[in-house]
Order: sequence, then C-alpha cells, then structure tokens
Amino acid sequence: MKGHRQTDLCGRVPALPEERFLLNRIHKRARGLFTAAALSLLLCTTGCTSLKVLSYEGPGRDRWQQPEEVIRVLDIQPGDVVADIGSGGGYFSLHLAEAVGPEGTVYAADIDPAMNRYLERRARRAGHDNIKTILADPDDPNLPETGVDLIFMSNTYHYLDDPTAYFSDLQRTLGPSGRLAIIDFDGTKWRHRVTGHFSRRDEVLKELQTAGYELVEEFHFTDRQYFLVFSQSGS
Ligand SMILES: C[S@@+](CC[C@H](N)C(=O)[O-])C[C@H]1O[C@@H](n2cnc3c(N)ncnc32)[C@H](O)[C@@H]1O
Repeated sequence: MKGHRQTDLCGRVPALPEERFLLNRIHKRARGLFTAAALSLLLCTTGCTSLKVLSYEGPGRDRWQQPEEVIRVLDIQPGDVVADIGSGGGYFSLHLAEAVGPEGTVYAADIDPAMNRYLERRARRAGHDNIKTILADPDDPNLPETGVDLIFMSNTYHYLDDPTAYFSDLQRTLGPSGRLAIIDFDGTKWRHRVTGHFSRRDEVLKELQTAGYELVEEFHFTDRQYFLVFSQSGS
C-alpha cells in the first residue's frame, strides 16, 4: 500500500531490501488467503449451493458446452416430456424447458435437495413453470410411471455406482420410442482425471448395450465431453 511502511511481527521496519521484499510477499500472501477465506465464508453463508453451482457451470461454460446446439441436435418437440437426471443447478433444465414449451414438462431429478431448491428458485425467476424437481435416490431417479420421451444426463454418469442396473430399470420409464442422451466428461482435461469426474466413452457404450440400449447418434462438437444418444435395442 502506498505511504504505508510494512513492519514485522514485532513492529520493526526492516532495514535490508531482502527483508522488505520477503515481508512484502508474506503480507501479499496473507491478504490473498484472507480474501479467499472471506469469500468462502460469504458463499457458505449465502449457501454452499451457489459455490457448487459455480463449480458445475463456471463463468465460461457456454463457450465450450454450446447448450443451444445440444438442444437443437436433440430435436426436442414442443409438448415433449424430458427427464434431466442429475440436473444440479439446472444449467440444461432451463434450456430443455424452453424447448418443450409450456405444453411440455421437464422432470429435474437430483439426489441433492438443496440443488433442487436452488433450481426451483431459478426456474421461477426465469418464468419456467414446466420444470418439476424430483428428489432422486442414488440408484433411482424416481421418475413418474407415466413415462418420458427423453432421458437427458449431463456430467452425472460417472457418479452412478451401477449404470447398467440403473438404465436397465429405466427402460420401463422410457418406452419403446424414447431416447437416452448421455453427455459426460471424457477425461481429456487433467482436472477431471485427477478428481475422477469423467467416464470412458467405450465403457459407457458397453454398459448401456448390456442394459438394453443401442447407439443411434453421436456428436463431436462438445469439447472435453462425449455426447451419445441411445434408443432401446430392437425398438
Ligand atoms: C456435475 S453436476 C451436473 C449438473 C448438471 N447436469 C450440469 O450439467 O450442469 C452432477 C449432479 O448430479 C447429482 N447426482 C450425483 N449422483 C446422482 C444420482 N445417482 N442421481 C441423481 N443425481 C445425482 C449431483 O447432486 C449433482 O447435482
């Protein structure tokens, strides 16, 4: 700070330039740590959910995710019923709600009740009353028996303990003409490999084939992710 002489812990002004340099760095680091701690405290008191959503969506996600293009290629029709499993803060739920329109429904299923509450507020603010949140269990999204036209899952597949059993059970909800769209991190970014937040496309293909699905489309425009669309085998 200009005009402010930095002192050591005993209140002495260091005489040597090396001492002053070192002290300056310590002060800078301490200020950085203090700011980070204050920011975390603020975010946690206003809700750690916001922090989580920030980590899911980040400031630049639209650039590499291209959500409009994702929705466009899925050819969702007005009035469709779509399930967004692992909906999180609703990054895709809002786009899906736009695509199905007021006659359609988006079931946003997540195991985290705080995330559902966050999405309910977000949907209300955006004027989407066609988004219905569902509290999922880890092995069952608890979708309504009436069925859905499309199951959509983004960046969540790698959380599933037994994806084959999970999607095998979901065949009853999907019906013969339903589709399943999976987008997940492919592990090309080191931070996804380090944290384990990714799944391998070929393993996903194998698991879903075993669960009774066949690959009908694949898109390559989503950076750092694979994007696969399935229908039920033989339908
Ligand atoms: C990385 S976030 C992705 C959120 C959102 N789909 C997106 O693309 O921004 C993963 C979300 O999946 C949820 N989740 C994890 N395991 C789940 C499961 N078995 N069933 C439903 N949701 C799950 C987490 O609570 C979290 O909100």
